[in-house]
Amino acid sequence: MRSATPAAPEAMSAMLQAMPFACAAFDAANGAMVAANNVYRQEFGALAGHASRDGLRESLRASDIDIDAGREVRAPHNGRWYSLYWRDLALDGRPYEVVTAVDISESIEVLDSHKSRQEKLLFTSRLMSVGEMAATLAHELNQPLATIVNYLNGSLRLVGQAGGPAQVERALVAARTQAEHAAAVIARVREFVRAREPRRDAHDLGEIAATVLELLRLEAERQQLAIKVSLADTLPQVFADKVMVEQVLLNLVKNAIEAMRGVDADGRDLRIEGRVNLDGEVEVRVCDRGPGLTAAEGEQLFSPFYTTKSDGLGIGLAICRSIIEYHEGRLFFEPREGGGSVFGFTLPPAEGRI
Ligand SMILES: Nc1ncnc2c1ncn2[C@@H]1O[C@H](COP(=O)(O)OP(=O)(O)OP(=O)(O)O)[C@@H](O)[C@H]1O
Ligand SMILES: [Mg+2]
Repeated sequence: MRSATPAAPEAMSAMLQAMPFACAAFDAANGAMVAANNVYRQEFGALAGHASRDGLRESLRASDIDIDAGREVRAPHNGRWYSLYWRDLALDGRPYEVVTAVDISESIEVLDSHKSRQEKLLFTSRLMSVGEMAATLAHELNQPLATIVNYLNGSLRLVGQAGGPAQVERALVAARTQAEHAAAVIARVREFVRAREPRRDAHDLGEIAATVLELLRLEAERQQLAIKVSLADTLPQVFADKVMVEQVLLNLVKNAIEAMRGVDADGRDLRIEGRVNLDGEVEVRVCDRGPGLTAAEGEQLFSPFYTTKSDGLGIGLAICRSIIEYHEGRLFFEPREGGGSVFGFTLPPAEGRI
């Protein structure tokens, strides 16, 4: 076995030096580096193991791509991408292995940015089809809903005239409230689609919360959940589109209810709080005792289509965020003291705006 490695032939050194990219030659028998050009020394000099074939292979294998199967590797010492080629070479009757490494970082970056552009496009087109779907739904549902409200009004009149049972009357009123809310949401969707401005006015948060609680009453009862509302006495009116803010609060409270599905009945606690924050904005907070959220989950939360529920679309929070941003407010979440999470939003007070 030869242990000493004779110097590389002059011709080899000269040849490597003439190459425009990083090249190095190794003794095929023991893998020691016998020659390298300046580009190689500049680009790989800082890489551990660069001075032997096995060391180099080892260092590059530690990066994410299998050096033997593929040619593209990301060098761990400088983060750049290289196309690697290993070739056998016999010179003066002695076997060598020559490696050349061509820096391909720029093409990879171009590919990456192309890919992310494509992803964005795909995403926009998905959002657009959601928009189209919403427009179609709004169109198709509008008529039957108006008819339902008419029938309910008619029935209420009949029950009133006949002095019918009070339970029936209450049920009819409740059904009408739901149908009217659905109609209002749909009307708003249609306005959105026609790109009309939402209508902002002065509104009481107490009323908004009451509407939302009414809409969620059945669901809360089913989960044996009493939703507490605690608004500061002097809470000013907010400058907002009422139906849109109802939509936001509804989504947040629904999420809170859903987050406590797996919690024992006596551990459940859902509060809606309202106060004026230090910036003078009205701040609404929905507090639950669900499992809370990890930081990683928190980052994805507001992206459209992110959901951990088998029956979720993952657009609730994304919609909330765009509505609140439209209102110059902020949607946020934080861990709740004692466990669970707080989802909140801010809205500007109406004073001075109308
Ligand atoms: N109060 C909460 N506690 C814990 N996790 C929550 C809470 N609110 C939201 N999340 C997490 O954020 C995800 C996204 O919520 P989002 O409301 O956008 O969609 P979704 O509720 O899954 O579906 P949907 O479109 O029906 O609202 C949820 O799937 C859930 O993992
Ligand atoms: Mg939701």
